[in-house]
Amino acid sequence: MTSERTHTLITGGAGFIGSNVAHSLLRDGERVTVADNFSRAGVRQNAQWLKRTHGDRVRIVDVDVRDAEKVRLLVAGSRQVFHFAAQVAVTTSLEDPAADLQTNVIGTFNVLEAARAMRTPPPILFTSTNKVYGGMGEVRVDLAEGAYRYADGRRGVGEDAPLDFHSPYGCSKGAADQYVHDYARIFGLPTVVFRMSCIYGTRQFGTEDQGWVAHFARALFGSEPITIYGDGCQVRDILWIDDLVGAMRAAMDRIGSVSGQVFNMGGGAENAVSVRTVIDRLRDITGADVPVAQAGWRPGDQRIYVSDTAKAERMLGWKPRTSWRAGLEKLVEWLHEADLATPVAAREPTSGGGAHALAEAAR
Ligand SMILES: NC(=O)c1ccc[n+]([C@@H]2O[C@H](COP(=O)([O-])OP(=O)(O)OC[C@H]3O[C@@H](n4cnc5c(N)ncnc54)[C@H](O)[C@@H]3O)[C@@H](O)[C@H]2O)c1
Repeated sequence: MTSERTHTLITGGAGFIGSNVAHSLLRDGERVTVADNFSRAGVRQNAQWLKRTHGDRVRIVDVDVRDAEKVRLLVAGSRQVFHFAAQVAVTTSLEDPAADLQTNVIGTFNVLEAARAMRTPPPILFTSTNKVYGGMGEVRVDLAEGAYRYADGRRGVGEDAPLDFHSPYGCSKGAADQYVHDYARIFGLPTVVFRMSCIYGTRQFGTEDQGWVAHFARALFGSEPITIYGDGCQVRDILWIDDLVGAMRAAMDRIGSVSGQVFNMGGGAENAVSVRTVIDRLRDITGADVPVAQAGWRPGDQRIYVSDTAKAERMLGWKPRTSWRAGLEKLVEWLHEADLATPVAAREPTSGGGAHALAEAAR
């Protein structure tokens, strides 16, 4: 571990969002430490790609954020921390709530405590979720032309919406969100929380459990059947990954003025689309078609969730630039280039020695 604080630390850095943030920083000549336990199927490919593309400026370490001592050493050597490592799926949190809690709450607590122990703690950006607002059953919605919409005409959900953790994942991410937020208030740590809706893009190994846009795109490519949970009329404001990376870097660049802030982050009203519309558009782009089955609603699934990004626009000088239509085209283009048509579960084991071997080789 380096004693100089020249590195950016990205926990979960081999993941979808982590590898994109890493690439953006590395392209600008920065040094990055990617810390990941490679538990997400597919993400070893992201680490290998970062290493191939950026060589020695990226360090890849096989670290589990539940290991407080290793986290302490990594944070102590970092000039800023993007804390993304997480158990990311509601479904998995229902199967194993204890593991979900350990990674999401204790892992985050380890990062915060490591920073609190330092004379000058590094800025920390934490990725929370719209799930902290719960099912939002109290918000009236209408169904019009195959898509839910807010009956009161609001453009989206602001940061002042009541918290209502739903599902173990909602509880663990929500607890971590509140810890990160409060450590800025109570201990003066420079932290910022992004409550994100649905992010999609390159380097995303989406599955049925998480990353549904990428999952559908890959299923269409690979002629795998699709299951829609609920009626498919649910609406999300999808945000293209490069736009998210821009917002994250803007937040870190101005941490002095945004420390302690929470931002709702998504594509906003202009990029709010139903699940069925996304599938239809992907069918048009790929020219592929697959059987679509329907199953019951998942717990806590909101009929509509659209982020009100006004605060982020005001304080970060940021706006989503990529329309959902253009984003879906770029996603399919990447699948072509990377030859990643087959859905993840069909070609990747969920664990294995390869991750360790990669981390060793990368040191
Ligand atoms: N993608 C989205 O739409 C979205 C939406 C809301 C919130 N988020 C949050 O953003 C963050 C990044 O999500 P993503 O989409 O890039 O997911 P991802 O699964 O691609 O990335 C998460 C990474 O964390 C790693 N990881 C998991 N447990 C770990 C542990 N105990 N120790 C070390 N590493 C571990 C995984 O191997 C993976 O590489 C997560 O915190 C997630 O909850 C994502």
